[in-house]
Amino acid sequence: MSKYIIAIDQGTTSTRAIVFDHSGNIVSSGQKEHEQIFPKPGWVEHDPMEIWTNTREVIGNALSKSNLTRHDIAAVGITNQRETTVVWDKNTGEPVYNAIVWQDTRTQPIVDELAADGGVERFKKKVGLPLATYFSGTKVKWILDNVEGARAKAEAGDLLFGNTDSWVTWHLTGGTEGGVHITDVTNASRTMFMDLETLSWDDEILAAFDVPRSMLPEIKSSSEVYGKVHTAQLLRETPVAGILGDQQAATFGQAAFEKGGAKNTYGTGNFLIVNTGEEIVRSQNGLLTTVCYKLGDAKPVYALEGSIAVTGSLIQWLRDNLGFIKSAPEVETLAKSVEDNGGVYVVPAFSGLFAPYWRGEARGVIVGLTRFVNKGHIARAALEATAFQTREVLDAANADAGVDMEDLRVDGGMVANDALMQFQADILGIPVVRPKVTETTALGAAYAAGLAVGFWRDTDELATNWSEDKRWLPQMDTAERDRQLRLWKKAVTRTFDWVD
Ligand code: G3P
Repeated sequence: MSKYIIAIDQGTTSTRAIVFDHSGNIVSSGQKEHEQIFPKPGWVEHDPMEIWTNTREVIGNALSKSNLTRHDIAAVGITNQRETTVVWDKNTGEPVYNAIVWQDTRTQPIVDELAADGGVERFKKKVGLPLATYFSGTKVKWILDNVEGARAKAEAGDLLFGNTDSWVTWHLTGGTEGGVHITDVTNASRTMFMDLETLSWDDEILAAFDVPRSMLPEIKSSSEVYGKVHTAQLLRETPVAGILGDQQAATFGQAAFEKGGAKNTYGTGNFLIVNTGEEIVRSQNGLLTTVCYKLGDAKPVYALEGSIAVTGSLIQWLRDNLGFIKSAPEVETLAKSVEDNGGVYVVPAFSGLFAPYWRGEARGVIVGLTRFVNKGHIARAALEATAFQTREVLDAANADAGVDMEDLRVDGGMVANDALMQFQADILGIPVVRPKVTETTALGAAYAAGLAVGFWRDTDELATNWSEDKRWLPQMDTAERDRQLRLWKKAVTRTFDWVD
């Protein structure tokens, strides 16, 4: 019996491969960043070929670092940045355009056009999502409408669409030589095309978007054997057995299997997910309804999600665009060089505002500037923005649930930042809890794949792998918390209606 599971985490800024053992511990890993392409304000693209090349490279690195071969690996799990849209030619394997990333706002005119008939909530009952540039649907339509020859090829059945899970899986399983064109229910629930109740593509919505059904991947569960790695690859003949969108994967990796279980991931953006069990809960407070996971033939489990577009990427922006810091972790030192935010609030509405506002036209602001303010204050305000935005989506989740969450499980890169986690607990007024393994996204995908091949028995067994590492308790007094929140909300209103 092979001893390990490998997870491929195809994220927004990098692709990673992580090998896990039976206890859910990391044995080995490889990681490679890919280029972020910003052709115009609001546009964000990735090169799909670079992503595929990096995927192969990181698999090789993860295996070789621990002297592993394919015989040590029982299955492959895949997790991915969701919504990011790739359209490629099934005969050549070539993308017809760069991947349009989830943060990209170029499709706002398409959103407006579709919303003209029935408003942004036009399809929400069926798909759980408002019309917004965030989801894959308008991105596919943009490619078909704007790339020369694409629509004719799509109508002839020559083009395939997928999020990066589909792109990587198709290549891994053979590409033009018989690759499987599939996705899982969690990724499908981010397209705008899948009916949450039937878990199948909806013809009426596809007609409204003018997207041919033949382009779409087959929708599978999150945990089953979809196919085997193609003979020409390093992991040849290894079953590909789990796919989960990255935020759902993190929920799975945090062992939030019970109704009411929740997690908040601090990545490029922040994503709070609350498991709602077999019930499809319609948010009254600006959250999304999404599929949490579906294990083989079992019933699907649903979730509410508070998606925040910009958190970690704000720190990258301080590094890359403003040159405030040389590496992202330095932000903590810079933020600690001042006593407080000096009255500054940064609202990073770079892609409009997502949950709970859904304001596509919003643009980022820095408010409260005086001659007193220095880089430290801005860095501090940038970090605090993550905590304030999280507070707003947590409030929405509590309002939808009718009960307040007692603590918050966290994961992702920024949870290594002690000052941020303390401020987060202060602004939430509840404890913030970090598990021992914070690579929960990759772990969740490994779990999904491992369950499908019998490497793990059931979710009860997985839950025993979870253990607490650190807990931050709220220390701020209520009056100060309320004051800061009031100023934050005022700053948010300054981002609205920023249109030419
Ligand atoms: O919905 C977008 C999300 O899946 C991206 O996650 O971790 O790549 O920023 P991440």
